[in-house]
Amino acid sequence: MPNRDPSAGLCPALHDYDPFAPDHLADPYPLWRLSQREAPVFYVSKAGFWAVTGQAEILEAARNNEVFSSRDSLNFRPVPEHLSDRLPNGFPQAYPSLINSDPPEHSRIRKIANRSLTPRHVTVMEPAIREIATSLLESFVDDGAVDIVGRFAVPLPVTVIARFLGVDENDLPDFQRWSHAAFLMSNPNLDEDEFIRCATCHAELNEYLQERIAERRQDPRDDLLSRLVDGGEETTQLSNEQIISLTAQLLIGGNVTTTDLLGNLLLILLSEPERLQAVRSNPALIGPAIEEVLRIKSSIRGLFRTTTREVELGGVTLPEGATVWLLWGAANHDERIFPRPDEFELSRPNNKDHLAFGKGTHFCIGAPLARAELRIALELLLERLPDLRLADEQELVYPASPVSQGVERLQLEWTPGQPAPSGHLGRVGR
Ligand code: HEM
Repeated sequence: MPNRDPSAGLCPALHDYDPFAPDHLADPYPLWRLSQREAPVFYVSKAGFWAVTGQAEILEAARNNEVFSSRDSLNFRPVPEHLSDRLPNGFPQAYPSLINSDPPEHSRIRKIANRSLTPRHVTVMEPAIREIATSLLESFVDDGAVDIVGRFAVPLPVTVIARFLGVDENDLPDFQRWSHAAFLMSNPNLDEDEFIRCATCHAELNEYLQERIAERRQDPRDDLLSRLVDGGEETTQLSNEQIISLTAQLLIGGNVTTTDLLGNLLLILLSEPERLQAVRSNPALIGPAIEEVLRIKSSIRGLFRTTTREVELGGVTLPEGATVWLLWGAANHDERIFPRPDEFELSRPNNKDHLAFGKGTHFCIGAPLARAELRIALELLLERLPDLRLADEQELVYPASPVSQGVERLQLEWTPGQPAPSGHLGRVGR
């Protein structure tokens, strides 16, 4: 067969598509919708992978694990030579467990993970989530201005997941450092020095978890790590490597996603004062507001699969070994499913039909936890910061990532010491 350019014949906007252009990172939706109309599956020549933007095509691929494999979804550079004895199985999260495995092995591990992190466990943790969020907020409530991402949205989820796992409070700073490095590693453009620093963090996290797992095997507690180690017959079959991989994936999956979503939630609510007022005056709208932000600006743009054989998708033939970018964020703006997709509508009848948490085999295991964190965070911020607003003239910067979407900083202002207006959200959640 003649060698031909797989992007030949695409309209110029798709042919020249640069997923990392700053304008596109800030507002990818017009181009993704153009693709939905013209070519819902297309080759991104600048990145060397295939993009899938149509909701139907994304669901078709996500359902077909045999052909659209997740096995290579977390790909990293090799472990640096001098760390190879500290990381004999590679990077902890790269060992197959959840997001990087396929059925039937995935199903077995997922069953164990599901039992260890249920909605009931999240409900039990809610007072602790509220306490963590309150103490973060107390550290800046009198300042009248803050970068809410750095001071609140970043530390909240990592502290919560550490508490869930059973990490000792004294180990929290190290744990936060390792979690941050775990996420940074997913950036293929990381420079060599930074890569080595992150790899060293991985070695430390690996050793730390090995020790904690050994402790839990001896002396189980009421925490997530103990449940993974010793939660029943099937669970005892998880190896240390699988538990460590799973834990590292919970860290990666559970931190930046929630940080970014919280930033997106505040940005969207505060950019239209009437929206904020609607939610303030009716706490029942907090849930719909979170779902609508998950739909309109989810923190995950897309995630990857690799084809195990040549396959047709959306009328396009993908070769074996193709890297396929399932754009969950684009599916949420598919106008065939969500009329007026760019409009934020609190009363959207199908507002829970978004795919922000994926669908099918790899559906997000942390969705109940993320929803609880977002709800509690929003309740508290609106309660304690009554005239909360966006600071003027700030530049919003999005990371050049094919996976995540969230502002790196978000400067907010309020008048310290203002009482909460009556009928205000401060009355909820108590
Ligand atoms: C707003 C926050 C979040 C968003 C938008 C989000 C999004 C997603 C998406 C789209 C997937 C599907 C991946 C795929 O199909 O390839 C996923 C899977 C996953 N998420 Fe989340 N997530 C969030 C929060 C969390 C939290 C809090 C945790 C951990 C506690 C977590 C852990 C995971 C894990 C481990 C998987 C892999 C599940 C599997 O393969 O079976 N996520 N998430």
